[in-house]
Amino acid sequence: MKDFINGLPKVELHLHIEGSLEPELMFELAKRNQVQIPFQSPQEVHDAYQFHNLQSFLDIYYQGANVLIHEQDFFDLTWAYLLRCKEDNVVHTEIFFDPQTHTDRGIAFDTVVSGIHRALEEANKVLGISSQLIMCFLRHLDETAALATLEQAIPHKDKIIGVGLDSSEQGHPPEKFAKVFQKALNEGFLTVAHAGEEGPAQNIHDALSMLGITRIDHGVRCVEDHALVAKLIEDRTPLTVCPLSNIKLKVFDKMEQHNIVDLLRKGMCVTINSDDPAYFGGYMNANFHAVADAHSMTKNEIAQFTRNGIEASFISDDEKARLV
Ligand code: HPA
Ligand code: ZN
Repeated sequence: MKDFINGLPKVELHLHIEGSLEPELMFELAKRNQVQIPFQSPQEVHDAYQFHNLQSFLDIYYQGANVLIHEQDFFDLTWAYLLRCKEDNVVHTEIFFDPQTHTDRGIAFDTVVSGIHRALEEANKVLGISSQLIMCFLRHLDETAALATLEQAIPHKDKIIGVGLDSSEQGHPPEKFAKVFQKALNEGFLTVAHAGEEGPAQNIHDALSMLGITRIDHGVRCVEDHALVAKLIEDRTPLTVCPLSNIKLKVFDKMEQHNIVDLLRKGMCVTINSDDPAYFGGYMNANFHAVADAHSMTKNEIAQFTRNGIEASFISDDEKARLV
């Protein structure tokens, strides 16, 4: 099964580019940019990655991003992730970035977007990996800040296909961002949102009805509402599930208890993704292996995760035909 998984073409739809910052690159950038970080070695950074919930991860994740200053840093970060995609046979990836994490530190929006975009273009040419870019609003900040961020994205519509919502789910429900999502939809952006990761199934309902989203990031707590599960199956609403992330952040205690295979067998459009691979212990292949090790599955079931990924992706029907 290991070889089958490694050789399977994959589509990644839930990846925070800042969450692909490996400790080694964090150190290199800290040195290059003369930024102080509270660690003596990459190993110390690895050792610090013990989380008990989403917030304990977010605190360290935002701190790590401080080493990203110049356009070249964002290029290097994205390029390193794309090389890992190549190793894991990821043929298409849709990546999130968190502009507010950088603009709030005085880094220009254009610096961030142009570094990431240049790497994505290069990967298309050199590595044969296609991609899309999605900008996330930080939900612990207010809607006015999200609106200002949306304004900054408008001149970059050619590079950004959609907007999403991430950061602390508890206490920051979808309705807080209804206006900015409506404006994004009016501007022609697609919308997605993290919902039902740590927050209740109601957040999935509300993200669908109030934010016009076309797929749900995480969504594993949908199982607390049977009518919602039935509707997600009927509508083929995609869930971008992140198995290793869910274990690291204690959404499930053990991979054996994860509901992704159950949801797949119920006919839901679930996909496997790595979320923040530098922090959660693995990229795409590692996530597939972790699920397959804990749940016995047929090759056809494993391949269904890729078919679902293609179906759920924001690529044109022509391009989809190329991938199947
Ligand atoms: N959830 C919420 N916010 C995030 C995540 C996540 O899994 N990763 C990066 N920001
Ligand atoms: Zn995420």
